[in-house]
Amino acid sequence: MDRPTWAPQGIDLTRASAARMYDFFLGGSHNFEVDREAGRRALEILPDLPKIMQANRAFIRDAVRHAAASGVTQFLDIGSGIPTFGNVHEIALEASPDSRVVYVDHDPVAVAHSQALLADVPQADVVEADLLRPKEILSRVQEGGLLDLDRPVALLLVAVLHFVEESADPYALVAELRDALAPGSVLVLSHASQDTRPEESARIEELYARAGTPFVMRTRPQVERFFEGFTPDPGVMLIAEWGDNAQAAGDDPGRFSGYVGVGRKP
Ligand SMILES: C[S@@+](CC[C@H](N)C(=O)[O-])C[C@H]1O[C@@H](n2cnc3c(N)ncnc32)[C@H](O)[C@@H]1O
Repeated sequence: MDRPTWAPQGIDLTRASAARMYDFFLGGSHNFEVDREAGRRALEILPDLPKIMQANRAFIRDAVRHAAASGVTQFLDIGSGIPTFGNVHEIALEASPDSRVVYVDHDPVAVAHSQALLADVPQADVVEADLLRPKEILSRVQEGGLLDLDRPVALLLVAVLHFVEESADPYALVAELRDALAPGSVLVLSHASQDTRPEESARIEELYARAGTPFVMRTRPQVERFFEGFTPDPGVMLIAEWGDNAQAAGDDPGRFSGYVGVGRKP
């Protein structure tokens, strides 16, 4: 298979990637046939997927504005993905020109596109790193000098923790990041869940596993556990219970399986 000019050297064009499948669901053009094929199979199981992803993006935009309205001007977005419409730095800079944003992703396509987009944006940067190694993320953020970890930071872990298996102890990873944040920092998180669509969720987990990307749905108590050490602001809710998302989900909030949440470190 030919490597398109925008694709970084060395990436595996025969294996689907979570970042590129998400780009496909959002109508982007930075995906390969292998991603679209896996994406189409996922859509057969859960045709609402693009709407769920759009609701997730609406949550990010609102949560960034919510954090900015409380005076937070620093954003650390881990698992930031391939840039799309309404990126975190655009929303944050609109809210406050003093904003600073560091994106982190382990996917080379997501990082390359973020670098290209941010070439002329001194207030934002991207780091290629893995959520499984929070110490490395924190030290690279400190070295970069864009964020001051002694002041409040909005930590975004949006639609990324479901790619971390229980064996990697995702709760400990989040706790390590939380402990490095100053009081007044904010956790912005979303996570897929089997709670409201158990049958389709099990099939989606299987599909991702076959595509070579572990996908772990979690229950509401498991998602709430990520907020240990944070006070609800406003706390965890179904994705369709957030803001205007109810309209997109119609009269059944459980149609969009998954949770969003925002908490603040006291
Ligand atoms: C579904 S996308 C979400 C993008 C964005 N946060 C959003 O919600 O619109 C998940 C992203 O997390 C990234 N990701 C998955 N596991 C990761 C890990 N262990 N470390 C860093 N990034 C990861 C993927 O590469 C992908 O870009």
